[in-house]
Amino acid sequence: MTARARRRLDVFVAQAHAGELRMAEDGALTFQYDQSYAGPDLSVRMPFSSGEYAGKSVYAWFDNLLPDDRRVRQGMAAEAGTSTGVFPLLANYGADLPGAVQVVASDDVGSLLNRGQGYVRLSRTEIAARLRRIMEDEDAQRARTWARSDEHWSLGGMQTKIALREFDGQWYECLGSSASNVIVKPGAWGLEGQAFVECLTMELAKRCGLPTASVRVEPFDEISAIVVQRYDRFTAPTSGLVTRIHQEDLCQATGTVSAKKYAADGGPSAPEVMGLLRRAEGGSASRFVDALLFNCLTASTDAHAKNYSVLHPRRSEYLLAPLYDLASAAPYMGKGKTYRLAMAIGGENRVGWLRKSSLERFAQANGLDSGQLADRADELAELIKDNLEPAADELARQPGSDALASLLICRLRALCDATQRNIRVDGIHFKPVDIARFGIMSC
Ligand SMILES: Nc1ncnc2c1ncn2[C@@H]1O[C@H](COP(=O)(O)OP(=O)(O)O)[C@@H](O)[C@H]1O
Ligand SMILES: [Mg+2]
Repeated sequence: MTARARRRLDVFVAQAHAGELRMAEDGALTFQYDQSYAGPDLSVRMPFSSGEYAGKSVYAWFDNLLPDDRRVRQGMAAEAGTSTGVFPLLANYGADLPGAVQVVASDDVGSLLNRGQGYVRLSRTEIAARLRRIMEDEDAQRARTWARSDEHWSLGGMQTKIALREFDGQWYECLGSSASNVIVKPGAWGLEGQAFVECLTMELAKRCGLPTASVRVEPFDEISAIVVQRYDRFTAPTSGLVTRIHQEDLCQATGTVSAKKYAADGGPSAPEVMGLLRRAEGGSASRFVDALLFNCLTASTDAHAKNYSVLHPRRSEYLLAPLYDLASAAPYMGKGKTYRLAMAIGGENRVGWLRKSSLERFAQANGLDSGQLADRADELAELIKDNLEPAADELARQPGSDALASLLICRLRALCDATQRNIRVDGIHFKPVDIARFGIMSC
């Protein structure tokens, strides 16, 4: 690779050359579209244009393609023998990214894009071995020692995860630029049964009618992991060919670096997201309101801007993607503590504190009818209560999962009941609920 080429990376969207990512001597990043590119905009923030994009939007957009955790980036850099900068990491791990984007060093374009099906069969035991290494490493380095050196994919997020292809009951690792179609996560470190709780929350959302990525808990030898279908991939049913669909998360769409993904740290708030989604297709704004209410009613505290994405079907069009990474914190909450949602509704982010005035404030700020908003919150609370048991029954039983499901069900029923009451009564009758008071014995 020449010194000049090292400062320039080619950016592809759905295999079409979208433009170039360049790094100046001082490390500043710029992006310029290829003028013959006809595909979707790279980002809501960077619509197709003849000018060069520079500054925060460019840095944030590419930064968000990498894992959030510095230690994971350090591990990736050590594996590849580079520094932890966004540019060198993408030069090594940009061949399979969220959505349809690929970022590749110009010298590698030919070999990467023509490599064809670089898939290698993996047995369940080999996947289990990888998951075991991830879990062993988790406390220490979080290095990427469990991956093969010829895997060049990257995904955002805090949890360590593996991008694989699943087809016809077989599992494959994705080498070179091969596209994955599932994400396998062992669950958040330190929270007993978190994979199960995440799956249950996702299954619940789906049953409540919210478009949600499909998930299941899958045993790999003795390890239960979450297997999430990638909605940004389409797998042809007969050939198994995987094609990519362009997406960006809401940090990318708002020019926010991953370190600021929480509204409390200066990241996108619900009104900011509403502003963005009102211009989107497919009822995106009302689907986002549903998601906010669902997260509030299920104590899913971690729904920050990187846990929402928009899909870009074609140029100048975008819509809210199916929901992913929904996880109730209810079973892990301790009595007498305040737990906060990543995004406030009408200024209220405390779990158990949503009330009539919060909905009125949110409705007013976003041009909604507060009565209709309260009706929808009520309807979702009913749907959640009705679907908790069936969603839990749907998931495969594992050691400890019955107790965890019972605790979750009991606490979420209490949260929904209290919220249904609080959104109808005036201020003096409002009573916040501490759902951590409910233990298995008291349900
Ligand atoms: N089902 C999915 N389809 C497509 N992309 C996904 C899906 N789930 C997650 N992602 C992408 O992968 C990233 C990390 O996944 P996520 O489940 O949020 O992990 P974490 O628990 O580490 O935050 C997300 O920010 C999103 O870009
Ligand atoms: Mg996430």
